[in-house]
Amino acid sequence: MREKQRKLQLPEKLRWNHNEWYRRWLLRQLPSRAGSALDVGCGLGELARSLKADEVTAIDASARMIERASATSDRVNWVHGDVLTHDLGRYDVVTAEASLHHLPLREGLTRLAGLTKPGGTLIVIGLYLTATPSDRAMELVTLPANAVVGLAKALNGTGGKPHDTEMPMVMTAPTLPEIRAAAAEITPGARVRRHLFWRCSLVWHAPEVH
Ligand SMILES: C[S@@+](CC[C@H](N)C(=O)[O-])C[C@H]1O[C@@H](n2cnc3c(N)ncnc32)[C@H](O)[C@@H]1O
Repeated sequence: MREKQRKLQLPEKLRWNHNEWYRRWLLRQLPSRAGSALDVGCGLGELARSLKADEVTAIDASARMIERASATSDRVNWVHGDVLTHDLGRYDVVTAEASLHHLPLREGLTRLAGLTKPGGTLIVIGLYLTATPSDRAMELVTLPANAVVGLAKALNGTGGKPHDTEMPMVMTAPTLPEIRAAAAEITPGARVRRHLFWRCSLVWHAPEVH
């Protein structure tokens, strides 16, 4: 994967968290209640804590993230481990918010699909590399919209927190065509959509047998 290009950075006060922005959308795609849910690359656990399931598991490869997340709730089964190799079950709902680009794309998506129970739902909110002419055209809208939302958030006191300084970050991401091609092969029928603020989503309803 190539290195992600630097974005035009807004001043600190006007910056805001794009993952958080799409979290509400992600939650709306889920069944109102599930038996089991797994959040992959849970970070500080905000999404895991919002998942409506009888049993919620959240895994992260960072010991520090799990240490901090586990201090916030004992309703979630917090797991320190690598999702690619850790012994996990299969879940009615699998979510990955801004974590798929930390994994090798095809291996990671294959693993997420394998963790999804037959008939279950996999939802990814992912980062992608701006690479195609349509990506660049989109930025003509994204950049001013990003500044407007940043300004609105600064004025109402909810901005200025783009990400936690201890959160593991990587400077790589696949392109949208790469994500679409991997999804077509590994999660056929998945809906891959580009969203406004440098994120895409993948929603896959696993077949009853897979
Ligand atoms: C950018 S953070 C996103 C955290 C959280 N989902 C959020 O949206 O705030 C990506 C997270 O994925 C985790 N991660 C990276 N590789 C992983 C792996 N192989 N297994 C589990 N977690 C991993 C990192 O430790 C990090 O906490």
